[in-house]
Amino acid sequence: MIKKIAVLTSGGDSPGMNAVIRSIVRIAYNKKIKVIGILNGYLGLCKNDMIKLNQSSVSNILNRGGTILGTARYIEFNQRKNREIAINNMKKKGIHALIVIGGNGTYAGAYELFKMNFPCIGIPGTIDNDIYGTDYTIGYNTALETVVQAIDKIRDTSSSHQRISIIEIMGRNCGDLTLFSAIAGGCEFIVIPEIKYNEQKLIQNIRKNIKLGKKNAIIAITEKICNVKKLAEKIENKTQKETRATILGHIQRGGSPVSFDRILAFQMSLFAIELLLKKKFGQCIGIKNNKLIHYNLNFCTQFKHTRLKKKLIKLISNLY
Ligand code: F6P
Repeated sequence: MIKKIAVLTSGGDSPGMNAVIRSIVRIAYNKKIKVIGILNGYLGLCKNDMIKLNQSSVSNILNRGGTILGTARYIEFNQRKNREIAINNMKKKGIHALIVIGGNGTYAGAYELFKMNFPCIGIPGTIDNDIYGTDYTIGYNTALETVVQAIDKIRDTSSSHQRISIIEIMGRNCGDLTLFSAIAGGCEFIVIPEIKYNEQKLIQNIRKNIKLGKKNAIIAITEKICNVKKLAEKIENKTQKETRATILGHIQRGGSPVSFDRILAFQMSLFAIELLLKKKFGQCIGIKNNKLIHYNLNFCTQFKHTRLKKKLIKLISNLY
């Protein structure tokens, strides 16, 4: 019987993680299950940093970004000896199962614990939307709004100065945040990791646009593809148009979660606890075509998340 569970947040925080923590505690309370919060992800699990969570410890956190439990990137968790310490710590506290909230790295850790016979469930929390098996991760839609607002603001100044603006957007190896914010923000050029980057072609197309009379342009580009400051210099050189680069950075990770993320957090938490009660361990939760699903934790460690976005990009570039 599952009578006591633990919850942790790990990896990059995302808006809506608190909404998950709150939902888990409240749903569990309803089912007479006790909840322990692990501080700072897997690092806290190994250091035995745990707190009791109850109704009042999760009040007034629904609308708050970040995670009240804290988070960390703890690479050393890939060592078996650390996972053994973690499992021992949980067993000593009488914890029967663990719910992890995070991205691919977090899932990889949970899968290893599951292989060592500790019951785990994963809930997708990351702004990157890069988890295999789910259409949306918790926090992505909030980050999308943040990025679109930033694009709108940059457009104001970019058009006033008739400049070219480059906006670097987070996402690690996934272009979702860039692509969909660029569509919503009406960016003229989109560069994402899923499509081979061709700097020459990009500059050629910018020049073509200028010839057609375009006074300003916004280029949305995913992080880590190139050095955007250097790209700005090159574009300025080749087009004789003032060019500025803005790296949006960690602003994209913060803020109050939008309703979509809060609702998703609730739905996924409920589903996770139901799975635990049915003893369906080693699973992670997703939403596909508006339906909650669960699949093996190791799927996301085996398969790469790719979406068919080329068609969409082609369609958009033909519009300009
Ligand atoms: O995974 C979320 C994310 O914000 C990525 O988009 C980004 O590449 C990374 O985390 C940044 O990590 P950190 O905050 O550790 O620098």
